Amino acid sequence: RLVAQGALTWYFAKRGDLVARLLHAPWRDDPYPVYRQLRERGPLVRSKLGTLVATTHQLCDEILRDRRFGVRTSDGSYGDPTAAAVELQLSLLELDPPEHSRLRKLAAPAFRPRRLETYRERIEQIADELLDGVRGEFDVIRDFAGPLPIRVICELLGLPPLDAERLAHHGRVLAGSLDGIRSARHLRQMRESFAELDGIFDRLIEQRRADPGDDVVSDLVAALDEDRITGTELVQLCDLLLVAGFETTVNLIGNGTLALLRHPDQWAQLRADPDLAPAVVEETLRWDPPVQMTMRIAHEPVELAGRRLAADTPVLALLASAGRDPAVHPEPERFDINRPDRAEHLAFSSGIHYCLGAPLARMEAEVAFRALATRLPHLHRAGAATRRPTSIIHGLDALPVTGRTLS
Ligand code: HEM
Repeated sequence: RLVAQGALTWYFAKRGDLVARLLHAPWRDDPYPVYRQLRERGPLVRSKLGTLVATTHQLCDEILRDRRFGVRTSDGSYGDPTAAAVELQLSLLELDPPEHSRLRKLAAPAFRPRRLETYRERIEQIADELLDGVRGEFDVIRDFAGPLPIRVICELLGLPPLDAERLAHHGRVLAGSLDGIRSARHLRQMRESFAELDGIFDRLIEQRRADPGDDVVSDLVAALDEDRITGTELVQLCDLLLVAGFETTVNLIGNGTLALLRHPDQWAQLRADPDLAPAVVEETLRWDPPVQMTMRIAHEPVELAGRRLAADTPVLALLASAGRDPAVHPEPERFDINRPDRAEHLAFSSGIHYCLGAPLARMEAEVAFRALATRLPHLHRAGAATRRPTSIIHGLDALPVTGRTLS
């Protein structure tokens, strides 16, 4: 069935269906011209695949905040058909209230900006250590943008220093499966990755129960003992925190570094004033966000942008298209870290599923851009960047560069 779905998408992509193109190479490498064409057709567009897509900032924001939309269908199944097909267990991301509200309340305290500020110095140390290790030609993704968030989230969850390569592999398998399953081998890899992560967290939960610390897993184990969360929910939440914690942030750092190297004037400005790093973070999130889209389901009949939607109708909110909406961002195609009156983007979504890790992701990326600008001012590209073969997660597999590290 999935192979047939893939063939159908390919067929409609070839015949000019814009939504099918978003899901298919080669258009997904640079999806932004496709988003522009979709916006020109209106705020809510129906694809030949039957999918409705929201293209503007205003409509995406409206859907994400509207409590008449959720992530599950009325029969209780997880609304995104591709994710359901590959048996993804995405914890908070696939829950509606009241389960969502209960679990989110348990995880939220660990991600409050004030608590996270205590991690800044440690993140700076990790960034420095990683840059100490690079010589001459290196790969920004493999050597810096990838390992930094993995090490940070492992420390935050209280995981022992695990094999970063192995975790990066699990992250790629699981994040890639958001797009749907590609083969029997992919499905097997996914199950293996979940099984290995579940094993890691089962052991960690036992350790924290015996010896609690000041970390999110210890807080959650206390909630488990008070019956506010089940064992399965706890492990799935940990899986989500781990994978969401690095699979997206690597792409924020990677996409931002590539944007800077493609816009040498902006790179020069950051080098001259590293305090511009937070502006680089926000402009990257608007201009080339790591999460390009998300799905919502109407829980009841809804009138939306002049259309009547029946209950259980799915709508794809194009977060990345919202970031290029000229009604909100003047000259949206221009990467410009000096935007006056910078408007809000939807890279972290909106409403009740707004990214829990946004303050952490912002801090990590800010530290990363600041470290690159101060320690590798002569950074330049040493080869072609290669894109990941995915549509929902947008990022790079490799970004070869050269540069001499200053101590
Ligand atoms: C949810 C993006 C980093 C944890 C989300 C959503 C988006 C997003 C778009 C909502 C999806 C939806 O509405 O359906 C990003 C981006 C990141 C990032 C672009 C980095 C640049 C992180 C980090 C963590 C994290 C570092 C944690 C360590 C979560 C969690 C949720 C979430 C737990 C689920 C929230 C809920 O459903 O209530 N993220 N994220 N994210 N993110 Fe992030």
